[in-house]
Amino acid sequence: MPYKVLFVCLGNICRSPSAENIMNHLIEQAGLSTSIVCDSAGTSSYHIGSPPDRRMSAAAAKKLGIKLQGQARQFHKSDFQDFDLILAMDRQNYQNILILDPTQHYHDKVRLMCSYCSKHTLKEVPDPYYGGLEGFNQVIDLLVDACEGLLQNIISQQLET
Ligand code: 4NP
Repeated sequence: MPYKVLFVCLGNICRSPSAENIMNHLIEQAGLSTSIVCDSAGTSSYHIGSPPDRRMSAAAAKKLGIKLQGQARQFHKSDFQDFDLILAMDRQNYQNILILDPTQHYHDKVRLMCSYCSKHTLKEVPDPYYGGLEGFNQVIDLLVDACEGLLQNIISQQLET
């Protein structure tokens, strides 16, 4: 059974699809595609079915040479069972995920993405949607840092030798 990670933001068109695609890129480079599986979702229904935001895709292409793939979907309660780890981009996303788990059964599966950063000190991945292009570049930088830490963490703690 692969280890399953779900990245969650508000719209599932900027931050979480970037996290998913960057993580998949690192997983492929490490030859671990059959061991770790990623997906992403939004806490809102605003953009269901939409591809990643053009500005976000442009930043990922320019900075990393990665083409963002995916179609937005909404986070659903069944994701608590389906995934081993659920990573919220900011505290609002984190709270909105935990509201759907009133018994706190899955509380330990839900973490903040930036808890895996080692080079950056920001505690949240800022919402870039209403800001300028610099915000999208910052999202990429933060997510590369967090995904590198996350991959090392999964390799050392979750995968069988
Ligand atoms: P995301 O960015 O949560 O990183 O996908 C946003 C996308 C859309 C909106 C807000 C943030 N929106 O308000 O529509």
